[in-house]
Amino acid sequence: MGSLFSDSITLRKSIGISDDEFVQLRDFIYDKTGIFVDGKRKYLFESRLTKRLTALGLPSFSDYIKFLKFDPRRAAELNKLYELVTTNETSLFRDLKQLEAFQNNVLKEKLEEQRAAGRRELNIWSAGCSSGEEPYTLSILLHETLRMELARWRITITAVDLSPAMIARAKEGVYGDYAFKTTPDAMKSRYFTKEGDGWKIKPAVARLVNFQEMNLNDPLALKRVPRSHIVFCRNVIIYFDQEMKRRVVSAFYDNLLPGGYMMLGHSETLHKISSSFKPVFHPGTIAYRKEG
Ligand SMILES: C[S@@+](CC[C@H](N)C(=O)[O-])C[C@H]1O[C@@H](n2cnc3c(N)ncnc32)[C@H](O)[C@@H]1O
Repeated sequence: MGSLFSDSITLRKSIGISDDEFVQLRDFIYDKTGIFVDGKRKYLFESRLTKRLTALGLPSFSDYIKFLKFDPRRAAELNKLYELVTTNETSLFRDLKQLEAFQNNVLKEKLEEQRAAGRRELNIWSAGCSSGEEPYTLSILLHETLRMELARWRITITAVDLSPAMIARAKEGVYGDYAFKTTPDAMKSRYFTKEGDGWKIKPAVARLVNFQEMNLNDPLALKRVPRSHIVFCRNVIIYFDQEMKRRVVSAFYDNLLPGGYMMLGHSETLHKISSSFKPVFHPGTIAYRKEG
Protein backbone atom coordinates (compact mmCIF):
# COMPACT_ATOMS: atom_id res chain seq x y z
CA MET A 1 0.00 0.00 0.00
CA GLY A 2 1.47 3.42 -0.98
CA SER A 3 2.27 5.90 1.76
CA LEU A 4 0.57 9.28 1.99
CA PHE A 5 3.89 10.77 0.90
CA SER A 6 4.05 8.70 -2.27
CA ASP A 7 0.44 9.66 -3.02
CA SER A 8 1.26 13.30 -2.72
CA ILE A 9 4.18 13.10 -5.14
CA THR A 10 2.30 11.10 -7.78
CA LEU A 11 2.88 12.89 -11.06
CA ARG A 12 -0.16 11.45 -12.84
CA LYS A 13 -3.13 13.83 -12.83
CA SER A 14 -5.90 12.34 -10.69
CA ILE A 15 -9.31 11.61 -12.16
CA GLY A 16 -11.84 13.56 -10.09
CA ILE A 17 -14.50 11.77 -8.06
CA SER A 18 -17.80 13.60 -7.47
CA ASP A 19 -19.53 13.47 -4.07
CA ASP A 20 -22.18 11.22 -5.57
CA GLU A 21 -19.60 8.82 -7.05
CA PHE A 22 -17.72 8.76 -3.75
CA VAL A 23 -20.89 7.78 -1.84
CA GLN A 24 -21.70 5.07 -4.43
CA LEU A 25 -18.20 3.61 -4.22
CA ARG A 26 -18.09 3.87 -0.42
CA ASP A 27 -21.46 2.09 -0.12
CA PHE A 28 -20.35 -0.56 -2.60
CA ILE A 29 -17.19 -1.29 -0.59
CA TYR A 30 -19.24 -1.34 2.62
CA ASP A 31 -21.77 -3.81 1.17
CA LYS A 32 -18.99 -6.10 0.05
CA THR A 33 -16.62 -5.95 3.03
CA GLY A 34 -18.21 -4.10 5.93
CA ILE A 35 -15.28 -1.65 5.74
CA PHE A 36 -16.46 1.93 6.21
CA VAL A 37 -14.43 4.50 4.30
CA ASP A 38 -14.66 7.90 5.94
CA GLY A 39 -15.48 10.96 3.80
CA LYS A 40 -12.10 12.42 4.76
CA ARG A 41 -10.50 9.76 2.61
CA LYS A 42 -12.27 10.86 -0.59
CA TYR A 43 -9.06 12.30 -1.99
CA LEU A 44 -7.34 8.95 -1.39
CA PHE A 45 -9.78 7.33 -3.79
CA GLU A 46 -8.82 9.88 -6.42
CA SER A 47 -5.09 9.57 -5.91
CA ARG A 48 -4.92 5.81 -5.50
CA LEU A 49 -7.58 4.67 -7.94
CA THR A 50 -6.66 6.89 -10.88
CA LYS A 51 -4.03 4.28 -11.77
CA ARG A 52 -6.70 1.56 -11.85
CA LEU A 53 -9.09 3.63 -13.98
CA THR A 54 -6.28 4.44 -16.40
CA ALA A 55 -5.18 0.80 -16.62
CA LEU A 56 -8.74 -0.27 -17.43
CA GLY A 57 -9.25 2.60 -19.91
CA LEU A 58 -12.15 4.02 -17.89
CA PRO A 59 -12.74 7.78 -18.10
CA SER A 60 -14.72 8.29 -14.88
CA PHE A 61 -15.50 6.80 -11.47
CA SER A 62 -19.09 6.13 -12.62
CA ASP A 63 -17.62 3.82 -15.28
CA TYR A 64 -15.37 2.22 -12.67
CA ILE A 65 -18.37 1.51 -10.39
CA LYS A 66 -20.21 -0.09 -13.34
CA PHE A 67 -17.13 -2.16 -14.08
CA LEU A 68 -16.98 -3.37 -10.46
CA LYS A 69 -20.64 -4.37 -10.55
CA PHE A 70 -21.03 -5.94 -13.98
CA ASP A 71 -17.80 -6.62 -15.84
CA PRO A 72 -16.79 -10.31 -16.22
CA ARG A 73 -13.32 -9.33 -14.91
CA ARG A 74 -14.76 -7.71 -11.77
CA ALA A 75 -13.54 -10.37 -9.25
CA ALA A 76 -9.87 -9.62 -9.91
CA GLU A 77 -10.52 -5.88 -9.82
CA LEU A 78 -12.35 -6.17 -6.50
CA ASN A 79 -9.24 -7.70 -4.94
CA LYS A 80 -7.18 -4.76 -6.19
CA LEU A 81 -9.74 -2.34 -4.77
CA TYR A 82 -9.69 -4.12 -1.39
CA GLU A 83 -5.93 -3.81 -1.27
CA LEU A 84 -6.30 -0.06 -1.61
CA VAL A 85 -8.81 0.31 1.20
CA THR A 86 -7.44 -2.15 3.74
CA THR A 87 -4.52 -1.82 6.12
CA ASN A 88 -2.46 -4.97 6.39
CA GLU A 89 -0.15 -3.72 9.14
CA THR A 90 0.94 -6.62 11.33
CA SER A 91 4.00 -8.24 12.85
CA LEU A 92 5.12 -11.37 14.67
CA PHE A 93 4.61 -11.25 18.44
CA ARG A 94 2.51 -8.11 18.05
CA ASP A 95 1.47 -6.80 21.47
CA LEU A 96 3.74 -8.87 23.69
CA LYS A 97 1.88 -7.98 26.89
CA GLN A 98 -1.38 -9.29 25.51
CA LEU A 99 0.26 -12.45 24.21
CA GLU A 100 1.91 -13.12 27.55
CA ALA A 101 -1.43 -12.69 29.37
CA PHE A 102 -3.04 -14.92 26.76
CA GLN A 103 -0.44 -17.67 27.11
CA ASN A 104 -0.39 -17.65 30.91
CA ASN A 105 -4.14 -17.47 31.43
CA VAL A 106 -6.49 -18.10 28.51
CA LEU A 107 -4.39 -20.70 26.71
CA LYS A 108 -3.34 -22.40 29.94
CA GLU A 109 -6.97 -22.64 31.09
CA LYS A 110 -8.19 -24.08 27.79
CA LEU A 111 -5.39 -26.64 27.58
CA GLU A 112 -6.00 -27.78 31.15
CA GLU A 113 -9.73 -28.02 30.52
CA GLN A 114 -9.20 -30.14 27.41
CA ARG A 115 -6.65 -32.40 29.13
CA ALA A 116 -9.04 -32.92 32.06
CA ALA A 117 -11.81 -33.87 29.62
CA GLY A 118 -9.46 -36.26 27.82
CA ARG A 119 -9.85 -34.28 24.56
CA ARG A 120 -6.46 -33.18 23.36
CA GLU A 121 -7.75 -30.91 20.63
CA LEU A 122 -7.84 -27.16 20.20
CA ASN A 123 -9.26 -24.96 17.45
CA ILE A 124 -8.18 -21.37 17.11
CA TRP A 125 -9.53 -18.93 14.53
CA SER A 126 -7.37 -16.00 13.46
CA ALA A 127 -9.81 -13.70 11.67
CA GLY A 128 -8.12 -11.00 9.59
CA CYS A 129 -4.71 -12.67 9.69
CA SER A 130 -3.06 -10.43 7.05
CA SER A 131 0.26 -11.98 5.93
CA GLY A 132 0.26 -14.69 8.58
CA GLU A 133 2.32 -13.25 11.43
CA GLU A 134 -0.50 -13.56 13.98
CA PRO A 135 -1.42 -17.24 13.41
CA TYR A 136 2.26 -18.23 13.20
CA THR A 137 2.86 -16.45 16.51
CA LEU A 138 -0.01 -18.46 18.02
CA SER A 139 1.46 -21.69 16.66
CA ILE A 140 4.82 -20.77 18.21
CA LEU A 141 3.15 -20.07 21.58
CA LEU A 142 1.54 -23.52 21.40
CA HIS A 143 4.91 -25.12 20.65
CA GLU A 144 6.47 -23.23 23.55
CA THR A 145 3.67 -24.21 25.93
CA LEU A 146 3.17 -27.85 24.98
CA ARG A 147 6.72 -28.78 23.92
CA MET A 148 6.99 -32.61 23.69
CA GLU A 149 3.30 -33.00 24.46
CA LEU A 150 2.33 -31.18 21.25
CA ALA A 151 2.59 -34.39 19.21
CA ARG A 152 -0.33 -35.80 21.19
CA TRP A 153 -2.65 -32.88 20.39
CA ARG A 154 -4.83 -32.13 17.38
CA ILE A 155 -4.49 -28.41 16.89
CA THR A 156 -5.90 -26.34 14.04
CA ILE A 157 -5.43 -22.63 13.60
CA THR A 158 -7.83 -21.45 10.89
CA ALA A 159 -6.39 -18.21 9.54
CA VAL A 160 -8.50 -16.14 7.16
CA ASP A 161 -8.21 -12.83 5.34
CA LEU A 162 -10.05 -10.93 2.65
CA SER A 163 -6.92 -10.37 0.61
CA PRO A 164 -5.68 -13.17 -1.69
CA ALA A 165 -2.29 -11.41 -1.89
CA MET A 166 -1.92 -11.50 1.91
CA ILE A 167 -2.97 -15.17 2.07
CA ALA A 168 -0.38 -16.01 -0.61
CA ARG A 169 2.34 -14.24 1.39
CA ALA A 170 1.17 -15.96 4.56
CA LYS A 171 1.46 -19.38 2.93
CA GLU A 172 4.98 -18.53 1.79
CA GLY A 173 5.87 -17.65 5.40
CA VAL A 174 9.03 -15.68 4.67
CA TYR A 175 9.54 -12.50 6.68
CA GLY A 176 11.95 -9.57 6.72
CA ASP A 177 13.29 -7.55 9.65
CA TYR A 178 10.13 -5.43 10.04
CA ALA A 179 8.01 -8.46 10.92
CA PHE A 180 10.45 -9.36 13.71
CA LYS A 181 10.57 -5.94 15.36
CA THR A 182 9.08 -7.21 18.66
CA THR A 183 10.08 -10.86 18.36
CA PRO A 184 12.33 -12.25 21.08
CA ASP A 185 15.63 -13.40 19.47
CA ALA A 186 15.25 -16.91 20.88
CA MET A 187 11.89 -17.31 19.08
CA LYS A 188 13.39 -16.17 15.79
CA SER A 189 16.27 -18.61 15.89
CA ARG A 190 14.16 -21.50 17.21
CA TYR A 191 11.26 -21.29 14.76
CA PHE A 192 12.65 -19.71 11.56
CA THR A 193 15.38 -20.61 9.11
CA LYS A 194 17.30 -18.09 7.01
CA GLU A 195 16.07 -17.92 3.42
CA GLY A 196 17.46 -15.32 1.00
CA ASP A 197 17.04 -11.88 2.59
CA GLY A 198 14.42 -13.14 5.03
CA TRP A 199 13.52 -15.85 7.48
CA LYS A 200 11.14 -18.72 6.73
CA ILE A 201 8.79 -20.25 9.26
CA LYS A 202 9.68 -23.87 10.06
CA PRO A 203 7.31 -26.53 8.65
CA ALA A 204 6.41 -27.81 12.15
CA VAL A 205 4.99 -24.38 13.03
CA ALA A 206 3.30 -23.87 9.65
CA ARG A 207 1.68 -27.30 9.85
CA LEU A 208 -0.83 -26.17 12.49
CA VAL A 209 -2.11 -23.27 10.38
CA ASN A 210 -4.75 -23.57 7.69
CA PHE A 211 -4.94 -20.39 5.58
CA GLN A 212 -8.04 -19.44 3.59
CA GLU A 213 -9.29 -16.41 1.71
CA MET A 214 -12.48 -15.35 3.46
CA ASN A 215 -14.65 -12.26 3.68
CA LEU A 216 -15.90 -11.64 7.21
CA ASN A 217 -18.94 -10.06 5.57
CA ASP A 218 -19.96 -13.41 4.08
CA PRO A 219 -22.15 -15.17 6.69
CA LEU A 220 -22.16 -18.48 4.81
CA ALA A 221 -18.37 -18.60 4.65
CA LEU A 222 -18.12 -17.85 8.38
CA LYS A 223 -20.40 -20.79 9.13
CA ARG A 224 -17.90 -23.15 7.49
CA VAL A 225 -15.17 -22.31 10.03
CA PRO A 226 -14.79 -25.17 12.55
CA ARG A 227 -16.17 -24.38 16.03
CA SER A 228 -13.39 -22.66 17.98
CA HIS A 229 -12.07 -22.64 21.52
CA ILE A 230 -10.43 -19.27 20.88
CA VAL A 231 -10.97 -16.52 18.30
CA PHE A 232 -8.34 -13.88 17.64
CA CYS A 233 -9.62 -10.85 15.77
CA ARG A 234 -7.16 -8.09 16.43
CA ASN A 235 -7.05 -4.73 14.65
CA VAL A 236 -9.76 -5.67 12.16
CA ILE A 237 -13.15 -4.53 13.49
CA ILE A 238 -11.66 -1.08 13.95
CA TYR A 239 -12.29 -0.59 10.18
CA PHE A 240 -15.95 -1.63 10.38
CA ASP A 241 -19.01 0.45 11.28
CA GLN A 242 -21.17 -0.44 14.33
CA GLU A 243 -23.56 -2.62 12.37
CA MET A 244 -20.79 -4.71 10.80
CA LYS A 245 -18.94 -4.92 14.14
CA ARG A 246 -22.11 -6.34 15.70
CA ARG A 247 -22.59 -8.87 12.91
CA VAL A 248 -19.00 -10.11 13.01
CA VAL A 249 -18.80 -10.30 16.80
CA SER A 250 -22.10 -12.17 16.85
CA ALA A 251 -20.70 -14.64 14.27
CA PHE A 252 -17.65 -15.17 16.52
CA TYR A 253 -19.98 -15.75 19.47
CA ASP A 254 -21.92 -18.38 17.53
CA ASN A 255 -18.71 -20.03 16.35
CA LEU A 256 -17.15 -20.25 19.83
CA LEU A 257 -17.67 -23.35 21.91
CA PRO A 258 -19.15 -22.74 25.38
CA GLY A 259 -16.42 -21.32 27.61
CA GLY A 260 -14.47 -20.13 24.56
CA TYR A 261 -12.61 -16.83 24.39
CA MET A 262 -12.41 -13.97 21.93
CA MET A 263 -9.33 -11.73 21.86
CA LEU A 264 -9.48 -8.25 20.28
CA GLY A 265 -6.81 -5.63 19.52
CA HIS A 266 -5.79 -3.33 22.37
CA SER A 267 -7.72 -0.34 20.99
CA GLU A 268 -10.89 -2.32 20.34
CA THR A 269 -13.77 -2.85 22.77
CA LEU A 270 -17.21 -4.44 22.79
CA HIS A 271 -18.80 -1.26 24.14
CA LYS A 272 -22.16 -0.79 22.34
CA ILE A 273 -21.41 -3.86 20.21
CA SER A 274 -22.17 -6.91 22.32
CA SER A 275 -23.08 -7.67 25.91
CA SER A 276 -23.09 -11.43 25.37
CA PHE A 277 -19.48 -11.97 26.45
CA LYS A 278 -18.09 -11.83 29.96
CA PRO A 279 -14.97 -9.64 30.03
CA VAL A 280 -12.16 -11.29 31.98
CA PHE A 281 -9.46 -8.81 32.97
CA HIS A 282 -5.76 -9.73 32.94
CA PRO A 283 -2.82 -7.32 33.21
CA GLY A 284 -2.21 -6.39 29.56
CA THR A 285 -5.48 -7.57 28.04
CA ILE A 286 -9.16 -8.31 28.31
CA ALA A 287 -10.30 -11.76 27.22
CA TYR A 288 -13.98 -12.04 26.27
CA ARG A 289 -15.52 -15.28 27.48
CA LYS A 290 -18.57 -17.00 26.07
CA GLU A 291 -20.28 -18.28 29.18
CA GLY A 292 -21.79 -21.70 29.05
C1 LIG B 1 -4.44 -4.38 10.34
S1 LIG B 1 -4.57 -6.03 9.73
C2 LIG B 1 -4.53 -6.96 11.25
C3 LIG B 1 -3.68 -8.20 11.17
C4 LIG B 1 -3.53 -8.97 12.48
N1 LIG B 1 -4.80 -9.44 12.97
C5 LIG B 1 -2.84 -8.14 13.52
O1 LIG B 1 -3.48 -7.66 14.46
O2 LIG B 1 -1.63 -7.93 13.41
C6 LIG B 1 -6.28 -6.11 9.23
C7 LIG B 1 -6.58 -7.23 8.28
O3 LIG B 1 -8.01 -7.41 8.21
C8 LIG B 1 -8.33 -7.79 6.90
N2 LIG B 1 -9.75 -7.51 6.64
C9 LIG B 1 -10.37 -6.31 6.56
N3 LIG B 1 -11.67 -6.47 6.25
C10 LIG B 1 -11.88 -7.79 6.13
C11 LIG B 1 -13.01 -8.60 5.82
N4 LIG B 1 -14.19 -8.04 5.54
N5 LIG B 1 -12.85 -9.94 5.77
C12 LIG B 1 -11.64 -10.51 6.04
N6 LIG B 1 -10.55 -9.81 6.35
C13 LIG B 1 -10.65 -8.47 6.40
C14 LIG B 1 -7.41 -6.96 6.02
O4 LIG B 1 -7.25 -7.55 4.73
C15 LIG B 1 -6.13 -6.97 6.85
O5 LIG B 1 -5.23 -7.96 6.43
